[in-house]
Parts: sequence; structure tokens; C-alpha cells
Amino acid sequence: MEKPILIIGGKGKTGSRVAERLQAKGKEIRFASRSTGFDWTDRNTWAAAIEGAAAAYITYYPDLAAKGAPDDIDALAKLAVSLGVKRLVLLSGRGEPEAQESEKRLIASGAEWTVVRASWFNQNFDEGQLAPMILDREVALPVSSVSEPFIDADDIADVVTAALTDTRHIGELYEVTGPRLLTFAEAINEIGRASGREVAFHTISNGEFEGGLTAAQVPADLAELLVELFTVVLDGRNEYLTDGVQRALGRAPKDFTDYARSAAARGAWK
Ligand SMILES: NC(=O)c1ccc[n+]([C@@H]2O[C@H](COP(=O)([O-])OP(=O)(O)OC[C@H]3O[C@@H](n4cnc5c(N)ncnc54)[C@H](OP(=O)(O)O)[C@@H]3O)[C@@H](O)[C@H]2O)c1
Repeated sequence: MEKPILIIGGKGKTGSRVAERLQAKGKEIRFASRSTGFDWTDRNTWAAAIEGAAAAYITYYPDLAAKGAPDDIDALAKLAVSLGVKRLVLLSGRGEPEAQESEKRLIASGAEWTVVRASWFNQNFDEGQLAPMILDREVALPVSSVSEPFIDADDIADVVTAALTDTRHIGELYEVTGPRLLTFAEAINEIGRASGREVAFHTISNGEFEGGLTAAQVPADLAELLVELFTVVLDGRNEYLTDGVQRALGRAPKDFTDYARSAAARGAWK
């Protein structure tokens, strides 16, 4: 029997899409997350999840920008290789020191590696942290003129699926972005137009943002991470487009307008 492909974070924004694509190709898959007994915070749970897999897609939680990420990726990759799971595909982020260190550790692990280094996901607006604000018709963030080439999770999943099923992608680092730079205000405006909802956008101070997260009872470590992502990483360092989707798949990435229209048509912001 064919060995399964392991999807760490298989119910998440990208993992669920990778699972759909692999199943459509007739591949055996295995999920790993807390609901299956795998926990990033408890290394004793890792071996049982990994053993017997043919390959693994790794999404870290809460974020590869978190302080402990490089050590965890290092340990997981080495464990996987020692258990005979050599083909490893890592989802990474751009302009984040811990994420880039995690990539290095994966590459040094002896695995047959592929890194998919992604910009901010479109799906943060309907499946992630920003969705509740859009439903409340008021998005307040500590960003103003900085722009980001938001990428669609469907494009990421296509690249990851190709990487897991085609040896041509071994040893490739695909930096993937959408086709267009947008400010957060422009992105919210597009969502408003596509969904027919008035959604206001305000720039707030870092302190107000942090205070709002605390008031909303976001756990302290997650709040700290979100503050870092908005105030440190969104400083203009990622304001450029890359050709990772084109290079991996031979086609252009999806535009934000198409994402907003199809998410609105599905009722994402109702
Ligand atoms: N969002 C972005 O814009 C962006 C951009 C670039 C890179 N990234 C990277 O994307 C990765 C996240 O991928 P994603 O957005 O596809 O996933 P996701 O939607 O954040 O969810 C992944 C899954 O993680 C699981 N999880 C939560 N806590 C866990 C734990 N302690 N141990 C094991 N699993 C746990 C959850 O399932 P259970 O509840 O079953 O545990 C959840 O379904 C991060 O590493 C981040 O650095 C994100």
C-alpha cells in the first residue's frame, strides 16, 4: 500500500486546500494537529504522527515568526529524516528572521526539501484574524501606507501540491506573492465593493492595537506575535513582487479582486 503524505496543520487555511488537491490526485493523506494527537508544544507526540509517511507538508503554529520556531523545525525535520520521511515541504513567511532561520534548519536537515515562502494570505481577511473586524464593519490596524502583495491560499496549495508530488521541485525555494501590491485600506475597499458592505479602515497606534488585543482576550504570546508582525515586519521590507508561483506552476497568481469576488459570492462576509 502507498504510504500517506502527512499534512501538519491539515485543517488550516493552506493544509485543508493541499489535502483536497492530494485527494483529487488519488493520494493517501494523513492529518496531524492537536485534534489527531500531534502538538507542536509537546515533542513526545511527534514521532507517532510522522512514522510511516512518504512525505510531509509542514505548517507551523502559531507562526514561523515565533521565537521557538527554528528549534522546533530543526527537531521535527531531523526526526522525520531519521524516521525515513525525507521529502519535506515547509510553508514559510517573508522578511521574518525566525522564518528564514527555520528555512536554513530545514535545508541543513538532510531532507529533500522545498520551501514555499509566502506573502500575507488573502484568506486572512475571511478565514483568519481579520475576519471578525470585517464582519463588525470596522478594521483598525497599526498600518497606513505600507503595501503588501497578498497571495491566495489556493495558489500556495497548488505550489505545495506540486512540490509534494513532483521531484522537479526538490531543492527549490519558491518565494510566492500575489500579482499586485495593495495597502490594507485598498484591500478593505475591494472587499467592501465585492461584498456590498460598508467597511471602514482606520490606522491606529501600536499601543492601541496591543490594548485592543488584550481587551479581546487574545492570549499574550499570540498578541505579542501579531504586534510584531504588524509593527516590525510590515515596515516596507516586503513591498515587492516575486515570481514564485510563475516559476513553480508556469502561470500567474490570482489577483486580489478575484479572491474578494469569489469569497463574497460564497457568503464569506455575511
Ligand atoms: N497567514 C499568513 O498571512 C501567513 C503568511 C506567510 C506564512 N504563514 C505561515 O503559515 C503557517 C500557518 O499555516 P496556515 O495558515 O495554513 O494554518 P492555520 O490556518 O493557521 O491553521 C493550522 C492548524 O494548526 C493547528 N494547531 C493549532 N495549534 C496547534 C498546536 N499547538 N500543535 C499542532 N497544531 C496546532 C490547528 O488545528 P488543531 O486545532 O486541530 O490543532 C489549525 O487547524 C504559519 O507557520 C505562518 O508562519 C502565514
